[in-house]
Amino acid sequence: MSTSVTVLPGSGKQGQAAISELIERGYTVHTLVRNASSDISKHLQSLGATLHTGDLADVKSIEASLEHSESLFFAIPAHPVNEISFAENILAAARNKSVKNIIYSSVARTGDHESFPGWDADSYPLAWYWTNKQKIEDLVRTAGFPNWTILRPAFFVQNFCSPEVNYMFPGLADTQRLSIAYTPSTRLDLIDTKDIAKFAVAALDAPERFSGQEIPLAIEKLTADELAELLGAISGKQISVQYLSDDEAAKLVAQGHLTVTAQQWQRDVGYCVDLEKTRQYGITLTPVREALERDTLKW
Ligand SMILES: NC(=O)c1ccc[n+]([C@@H]2O[C@H](COP(=O)([O-])OP(=O)(O)OC[C@H]3O[C@@H](n4cnc5c(N)ncnc54)[C@H](OP(=O)(O)O)[C@@H]3O)[C@@H](O)[C@H]2O)c1
Repeated sequence: MSTSVTVLPGSGKQGQAAISELIERGYTVHTLVRNASSDISKHLQSLGATLHTGDLADVKSIEASLEHSESLFFAIPAHPVNEISFAENILAAARNKSVKNIIYSSVARTGDHESFPGWDADSYPLAWYWTNKQKIEDLVRTAGFPNWTILRPAFFVQNFCSPEVNYMFPGLADTQRLSIAYTPSTRLDLIDTKDIAKFAVAALDAPERFSGQEIPLAIEKLTADELAELLGAISGKQISVQYLSDDEAAKLVAQGHLTVTAQQWQRDVGYCVDLEKTRQYGITLTPVREALERDTLKW
């Protein structure tokens, strides 16, 4: 078991969860951040992580963060252009530093995009999102590292917590209305970022079991009404659901609300995680209610 791990970047939701879980489980953690004096960076330092100031656009700074690590966990921002180049930089740096174990956190349904109804590489909404993830997974699989594991999480429970909630569901925290481009029967596959981190730790603890695995991650599938009830019970507020009509959703999409485009995808295609497949690894997963209560909504 390699005991020193680099987490890239440290400031993201998954990065923070991975750092906390790894340190709790006895690993030494190095991480790269752009701003070492931010509150998040200070928190990571207080947990015991060693911070390296750098940028995913700068291979040398990534190499510096990998100097003492045989293992790497990375989960990088979705972006039409940067995402691929950041992944290439990370994998090049990891090769240069002879990293042995790679854990990449991708997204559920990666590789399935050609089966999405209406798929067209040039015109499908957010086509780049799916092709990027597939390309990065391919890079991870073929880069020649002794051990690699791909985690494929569904929607993060933490998207309902502050500050993400304000971007993901504008109005939910302040007006208590969940406006969403779902139907009442749409179910959203959910996972706690702490559970993604638990899988990362398990893969590092037992590469012989996890290497070469591509693991879809979700714990529950909830409707918007069920989510509203849960959020209401935790926040102590009455949450209503507004199911956006196609016209209302189209207007928001035309204004550039990518989260509504994503909701339409969740409604029409969906993460479709086989919950039994996630459970079969024997890792104790966190019920959505528990994750929301632990991370307190803060709204
Ligand atoms: N949200 C979901 O429900 C969900 C579900 C499945 C998969 N995913 C995937 O998860 C990935 C995002 O992970 P996340 O949500 O954990 O991340 P996140 O919370 O969005 O954070 C991304 C971090 O990247 C850092 N960053 C951006 N540019 C950087 C650069 N040039 N150099 C160094 N750091 C940089 C930012 O740090 P600073 O700005 O603080 O410097 C930010 O904290 C995406 O690829 C997405 O597709 C998301």
